[in-house]
Amino acid sequence: MLSGGPASVYADGAPRIDPAILDLGVPTLGICYGMQLIALEAGGRVDRTGVSEFGKTDLRALQSELFRNLPDEQSVWMSHRDSVVAAPEGSEVTAGSPSTPIAAFEHRERRLYGVQFHPEVRHTPHGQDLLKNFLYEVAGAPPAWTPAAVIEEQVERIRAQVGAERVLCALSGGVDSAVAALLVHKAVGDQLTCVFVDHGFMRQGEAEQVVETFDGHFHVPLVHVRAQERFLSRLAGVTDPEEKRARIGEEFIRVFEEEASKLGDVRHLVQGTLYSDVIESGGTDGVAAKIKSHHNVGGLPADMRMELVEPLRTLFKDEVRRVGEELGMPERMVWRQPFPGPGLAIRIIGEVTEDRLAVLRQADAILQEEVRRAGWYRKLWQSFAVLPAIKSVGVQGDERTYAYPIVIRAVTSEDAMTADWARLPYDLLETISSRIINEIPEVNRVALDISSKPPSTIEWE
Ligand code: XMP
Repeated sequence: MLSGGPASVYADGAPRIDPAILDLGVPTLGICYGMQLIALEAGGRVDRTGVSEFGKTDLRALQSELFRNLPDEQSVWMSHRDSVVAAPEGSEVTAGSPSTPIAAFEHRERRLYGVQFHPEVRHTPHGQDLLKNFLYEVAGAPPAWTPAAVIEEQVERIRAQVGAERVLCALSGGVDSAVAALLVHKAVGDQLTCVFVDHGFMRQGEAEQVVETFDGHFHVPLVHVRAQERFLSRLAGVTDPEEKRARIGEEFIRVFEEEASKLGDVRHLVQGTLYSDVIESGGTDGVAAKIKSHHNVGGLPADMRMELVEPLRTLFKDEVRRVGEELGMPERMVWRQPFPGPGLAIRIIGEVTEDRLAVLRQADAILQEEVRRAGWYRKLWQSFAVLPAIKSVGVQGDERTYAYPIVIRAVTSEDAMTADWARLPYDLLETISSRIINEIPEVNRVALDISSKPPSTIEWE
């Protein structure tokens, strides 16, 4: 499959392919830029027509290999400036939109297929069916992906890479590092040691769950470093968000290095790098447009000259979750919403103290519990509580109070690059609000964050 991309096929340095690839008879699907590239290399024409198409577009399609059993009229997502104005000779134009007459073509003899729209995005409702038609019918690729097969393959690879040597893994409590660790443990058993740096900014019960799961349930050798005091004292008096992140990141590395050096000579380090991380950091050859640079505070030092073991490098998040389930990881860990490396510390505006941490942790626990109870947990990308650095007046009984507000933040998102505030039901909001105010004496008000990203970010710091 030749994917879409931001360049024009005529731009300097735009990615090209050896045209001989198109003569191999290998089924090839070009999407957007990929379609234009095929058209250009296979004898068609691509022009800057002056008409660009962005967003939802009506498409009319003919019954054909790609559009088999799909409706003749459907809505698709477009994003292009150039257009194919002549399909390769011998091909059939199989779809068009009002402003792009050649929105899809098929050259059945040469096994070349192109679509101008994006079947891979959610805004193309029949896109997945089209991709299935291409994979199963045109390319004859059986749907053979199973988590069990991934586990088997990775276990073999890990054994080949690691041999009889020892391996170190930093657990964060998140699903990626947890699944990576379990895969490595399955492969090389107690040659693996996990280090869990507990900075004290985890949510209620989370640190205990990591220990219970790894040490108690899977019997993975685990070093649990209770470092809350160290982290809190590093944050004393610090209110600037970037400064907080920097200090937490530095302290994390310091603690991790100390623990690692106690373990003697270990040369392999497990990392839960996902395929999406590989793409986002510019791919393997630096061609993919750089979308975002990583901000994974809690990441490890670049100069820890260790060989990386990255068993999730070819997987997407949903695949990692399926592998986790297959390995027997508890549901809570497999389906945990993303949680930032610096944890609750960046959800407490202003100074992070033990008392303020306790307030936020309790509010967050109530919020999580009610969100789960209402069946909303998996529908949300993230849901959490934020503790601002202000107080306001309230009245409880006959008493005037002066206490903190708690802000509810809940968002839907595909990938955290954009997000929308979640329309939680009023009943759920009411329950969360009254429980937080009734159960936490330091809180007398609950507010709801109704901002999307952009222009806001998901986290408050
Ligand atoms: P923002 O707030 O930038 O967050 O919209 C986007 C996503 O990234 C997560 N996030 C972090 N994750 N370390 C992490 O591992 C961090 O320092 C960090 N900061 C933000 C955030 O929770 C959201 O999912």
